[in-house]
Formats: sequence, structure tokens, C-alpha cells
Amino acid sequence: MTKIVVIGGGKIGEALISGLVNAGTDPQSITVTNRRPERGREFRERYGVRDLTDNRQATEDADVVFLCVKPYLILDVLAEINAAVEENDTATVLVSMAAGVTLGAMEEAVVAGTPVVRVMPNTPMLVGRGMNALAAGRFVTPEQLDDVTGLLSAVGEVLPVAESDMDAVTALAGSSPAYFFLVAEALIDAGVSLGLNRQVAEKLVTTSAAGAGIMLSESGQDPTTLRTNVSSPAGTTVAALRELEESGLRGAFFRATEACAKRSAELGNP
Ligand SMILES: NC(=O)c1ccc[n+]([C@@H]2O[C@H](COP(=O)([O-])OP(=O)(O)OC[C@H]3O[C@@H](n4cnc5c(N)ncnc54)[C@H](OP(=O)(O)O)[C@@H]3O)[C@@H](O)[C@H]2O)c1
Repeated sequence: MTKIVVIGGGKIGEALISGLVNAGTDPQSITVTNRRPERGREFRERYGVRDLTDNRQATEDADVVFLCVKPYLILDVLAEINAAVEENDTATVLVSMAAGVTLGAMEEAVVAGTPVVRVMPNTPMLVGRGMNALAAGRFVTPEQLDDVTGLLSAVGEVLPVAESDMDAVTALAGSSPAYFFLVAEALIDAGVSLGLNRQVAEKLVTTSAAGAGIMLSESGQDPTTLRTNVSSPAGTTVAALRELEESGLRGAFFRATEACAKRSAELGNP
């Protein structure tokens, strides 16, 4: 049984644990750590996992440690668990889920030869539809990479990428669920402005978004084809699309993703 530790039971830590448990991982093989014991108790009651407040103790004998704390805390946590990782009989794989923090910085913070993997996840892993882009460090064996890929596959797709692409990956996957949520929110407000009550507007928008999402992922057709298929000449949809284009939607996404990638790079160089 692979012994899994999740350091930091926040949004990503919880999404990962929830996905793993839903996919059939034995909850007793998972230990979550939090600074606040009451948060650990929530995890124990909700998912049946073990909980600790001591990161070092949790890491003893761990096979895979997922680091799910904020980027600025990653190197501190590595310093905290370094000795336990060194003393473990098995080669513990450290998997960072943090934006920005590079493999080089993490490898320097731990004992030479420690296997480190950098992952950019996103929150749809809560519903088993996460996107996990992954770059492996120098000391990760193919078997260890398979193990980590297998665990992440339980909560979504896994895509190996070059580490140099990670800031762009963050802009397109790590952060992008928020863009879609913002679009949904704006559309609901627009519906209310057209005279619909909010409940009806929410139902119309969320159902359309979910349907469009499934078409994007499962129809085998690219977004351009899907869009043109619902754009009749001189029709209602084209009238709306023209307004969106004239309002600079495409330019807004170019600028937004540039800002996101830049911020991701900054997090790695505080
Ligand atoms: N949220 C996203 O959509 C998203 C997407 C992609 C990647 N990420 C990455 O995922 C990581 C976690 O983000 P998040 O959104 O899940 O943040 P979060 O909700 O703030 O979760 C971080 C958790 O870590 C706990 N924590 C802090 N210091 C700790 C320590 N020393 N030991 C153990 N637990 C500690 C915090 O709890 P206390 O402060 O109460 O102790 C908190 O519950 C970040 O590095 C982020 O870059 C997030």
C-alpha cells in the first residue's frame, strides 16, 4: 500500500484527497497535515484519513508526499521534512503542487538525490476532472513517475510538460477554472439585466456551461467548429459574438494569461 502524505489541507489538498478517496484509495493510507488541529479533524470525519499537525512526523515512512501549501511556504516545509525524508528506508517522492517554485529550487532545498516532481493542478480535480501538468526532476525514476501519474490519474488527466512551460500552463489550466466561473457570473448578471430572475438565470447559464464543457471534452471537435456550428448567418448568436469581439474578448485573454504567467514566474523568484 502506497503511503501518501498531503501537507496542507486547503483547497487543492482537499480536492486531491477527496478525489483519491472517491477513486477507491484506502483513506487510512493517506495522512493530511494542517497547522490547525480542528481542520485535521474535519478531514478525519469527512474522508476517514489520518491527520497530524507535525509535517516531519507525517513524512516518516511516506512513499509520496504532496506539498499543497502556498508557494512561499514550500521551501520552509521542505526544510522541515528534509531529515525525515533522508531517514526513510524507501525513496520518498516529493510532489509540489505550487505555482512558480522551480524543481531546481526544491532540489537544492533537500538532500541530494531526492526525487522531486512539480505539478500544476486545478480545482476540477474535486469532481475527478482535474488537469495535472507534470514535470519530473532529475532524480525521479520511471517507476516513481508511474506511481505519481497513477495517483493523479484518479483525480483527472495527467500531461507531462517541459518545466519551462509551467508558467504558461498555470495561465491556461491552474488558473483558468476561475476565468470560466467569472464568465458564468457575468452571464448570470446579464440575464438578470435582461429581466430574468436570478435563479432562472443561474440554471440557464450553469446548465449551458456544463453542456458546452462536455461537448468540448467529448465531442472530438475543436472549439472553432463547435462555435461556428451554432452561428447561423445573420443569426442571434453571431450578433452576440460580434459584440464580444468588438469588446476585446480575445485581447483580454491574451493580456490576462500574460499577467498570470508573469505572476507565476514572480512566485518562483520572490
Ligand atoms: N487553488 C487553486 O486553484 C490552485 C491551482 C493550482 C495550483 N495551486 C497551488 O496549490 C497550492 C495550495 O493552494 P490552495 O489554493 O489549496 O491554498 P490554501 O487553500 O490556502 O491551502 C493551503 C493550506 O495549507 C495549510 N498550511 C499552511 N502552512 C502549513 C504548514 N506549515 N503545514 C501544514 N499545512 C499548512 C493552510 O492552513 P492554515 O493556514 O490554516 O494552517 C491551508 O489549509 C499553492 O501552492 C497553489 O499555488 C492552487
